Amino acid sequence: MIKDTVACRIGHIVDKRTPAFGITRRGFVAGVVGILGGIISAVIGIPAIGYLISPGMKRVTGSIWVPIGPVDDLVEGEPTLFQFTRTKRIGWEATAISYGVYVVRKSADEFDVFSNVCTHLSCRYRWREDLNHFFCPCHDGHYAKDGTVLAGPPPRPLDRFEHKVEDGILTIQIQEA
Ligand code: FES
Repeated sequence: MIKDTVACRIGHIVDKRTPAFGITRRGFVAGVVGILGGIISAVIGIPAIGYLISPGMKRVTGSIWVPIGPVDDLVEGEPTLFQFTRTKRIGWEATAISYGVYVVRKSADEFDVFSNVCTHLSCRYRWREDLNHFFCPCHDGHYAKDGTVLAGPPPRPLDRFEHKVEDGILTIQIQEA
């Protein structure tokens, strides 16, 4: 043991086997193994973490076409209400969104498709047979059968959906934000 050590000028005992940089062979190997282990963990772990959390980050957006009913059931000039629910996923959370749509058949192949949401403060309006127009009970809003504002606070006509008829089924386009 005495052979392997020398006394330095300030009195410390220094191991002669210690290299000049202060790193032993054992320490060097341990460091390299540690670094390689870290790299391997990152290569395997990062994609695995991404796989696990990516559904929580996804947000589905865009437009979709939704079939709402056969056109043969629609009577010309008679507004018909359709209601349906869609489940929207934002990350891990699923939210049910209910839609209401008024369809007015204008002729054999012409339709108006209105959102059932008032353009004032988003109440649901309804068709009033006795008035022969749409009526919003929240603030006394009135809309004609073609969606234009007749009276009350609504700032603009009823919102419309793009639509098409496929194989006799009226289909509307909805935007999912
Ligand atoms: S929300 Fe319809 S009139 Fe105000």
